[in-house]
Amino acid sequence: MQEKIIILDFGSQTTQLIGRRVRELNMYCEIVPYNKFPHDDPSVIGVILSGSPFSVYDEKAFKVDLSNIRGKYPILGICYGAQFMAYTNGGKVEPAGTREYGRAHLSTFDAQNPLLKDIRENSQVWMSHGDTITAIPDNFKIIASTQKVAIAAYQAVGEKLWGVQFHPEVFHSQDGTQLLKNFVVDICGGKQDWSAASFIESTVAQLKETLGNDRVILGLSGGVDSSVAAVLLNKAIGKNLTCIFVDHGMLRKNEFQNVMHDYECLGLNVIGVDASKKFFSELAGVTEPEKKRKIIGKGFIDVFDAEAQKITDAKWLAQGTIYPDCIESLSITGTTIKSHHNVGGLPEKMNLKLCEPLRLLFKDEVRRVGRELGMPEHLIKRHPFPGPGLAVRILGDITPEKVRILQDADDIFIQGLRDYKVKLQGEEARRVLAAGIPADMTNGEIEVSLYDQIWQAGAVLLSTVRSVGVMGDERTYEHPVALRAVTSTDAMTADWAHLPYDFMAKVSNDIINKVKGVNRVCYDISSKPPATIEWE
Ligand code: XMP
Repeated sequence: MQEKIIILDFGSQTTQLIGRRVRELNMYCEIVPYNKFPHDDPSVIGVILSGSPFSVYDEKAFKVDLSNIRGKYPILGICYGAQFMAYTNGGKVEPAGTREYGRAHLSTFDAQNPLLKDIRENSQVWMSHGDTITAIPDNFKIIASTQKVAIAAYQAVGEKLWGVQFHPEVFHSQDGTQLLKNFVVDICGGKQDWSAASFIESTVAQLKETLGNDRVILGLSGGVDSSVAAVLLNKAIGKNLTCIFVDHGMLRKNEFQNVMHDYECLGLNVIGVDASKKFFSELAGVTEPEKKRKIIGKGFIDVFDAEAQKITDAKWLAQGTIYPDCIESLSITGTTIKSHHNVGGLPEKMNLKLCEPLRLLFKDEVRRVGRELGMPEHLIKRHPFPGPGLAVRILGDITPEKVRILQDADDIFIQGLRDYKVKLQGEEARRVLAAGIPADMTNGEIEVSLYDQIWQAGAVLLSTVRSVGVMGDERTYEHPVALRAVTSTDAMTADWAHLPYDFMAKVSNDIINKVKGVNRVCYDISSKPPATIEWE
């Protein structure tokens, strides 16, 4: 049985990060809504309570009865989780005089406490809270303080119950991983046996058992998730898996041919469908972003369905859904900003059962599994790409000519990112290596491409805008291209990448000189929120 830590989600933005940190310790964990603790699950060995956007005394605050959990499992409350346990046991939580965000240092702490083992003196921790615990319940003891916050961490005396006001899961908490390790390994007794290899072994065995000799259909997109799902399924059921890859005409330059070639090399049974004519004709004259998305979503389902119907004995539809798509609690406070198309409507329509072998993995874990399965690096490191493709990166209506222009500009940008190498040292290098990106360390330095350092990049054709330029002796009146490159860990929030000026100068020059129809290049310096990654 795979033992697990349960993370009760009270709606904090960092809940997923807690999950990823625990998984990085090779300890399996699951995130569940604060009120859905799996009381019947014998594999649970410990519980973490997340932060929350609410104050404990807000009317809307998420409240939960912990009486069936306390005493049965070790508990660690983080931020709101800590405040909630202090407050509901007779402690006091009050609005902090000044809301405290950012760095603080553990000025005094009980180094003998098992939660704080090997935490360095004055260790930096990351605070992000508007409330503070001003008094702890009678039977609790303070185990750490910062200069501003007297109750930075506590323990219930004689119990395996702790609370920390700071966020050990965020990168800026220096010994945060050590603290989480102390909790999940030393206190909960976690065996740290969760790895890409163990995941593959158990998932392949499960797939073999569940699918038996059934036929399975899978929609490939060229992206990491569906590709890894396909290779995993191929390992389990071989030729009983049929993959369908639809070209809607709005993929990157040469993407369809390149990816089909990769899939064939991986031994996958793939049907490639060129449906670009259908999509271009349905999109003609459509300018409204949501309408474009809906047309492509529906068109995709129609084409996929028509192909899948030919495999008459198929029983399953497989998808590369990953964990962040499944975490139910994201909807606790989340709102839908854009409709994302996927093949979600297909299983009911086609009367197929759903198979999602990656539904428990975070994105970086999917990449690790892909590597362990021997997939080529360029497939594994591929940036995310939206289902509707370049259609949401062309403002206004879509024509094959505009797609051609954007493909050429985008290709120069992406190739440039791949070719430009940067040297990293120290913490930056460590972070890249920890993410599993293969790079050789020489004299304490690693070399990686700009492409590998960023989450996602692409060009956007501002085809509703024209500006004047001059080329040779001629006046031009053409479209600008906006370049977008962001850093992120999950696409929920993102920052614009600080690309080197010499790189931007070269790319801009190349695009304007080589791509007919473009006479100006801009760089998008908006973060998400308030912007989004895609323009439409
Ligand atoms: P936004 O623009 O919402 O994008 O900040 C967040 C992430 O989602 C990708 N994206 C999509 N992916 N179908 C997809 O499969 C879609 O319709 C879609 N729209 C956006 C986007 O590229 C980014 O990674």
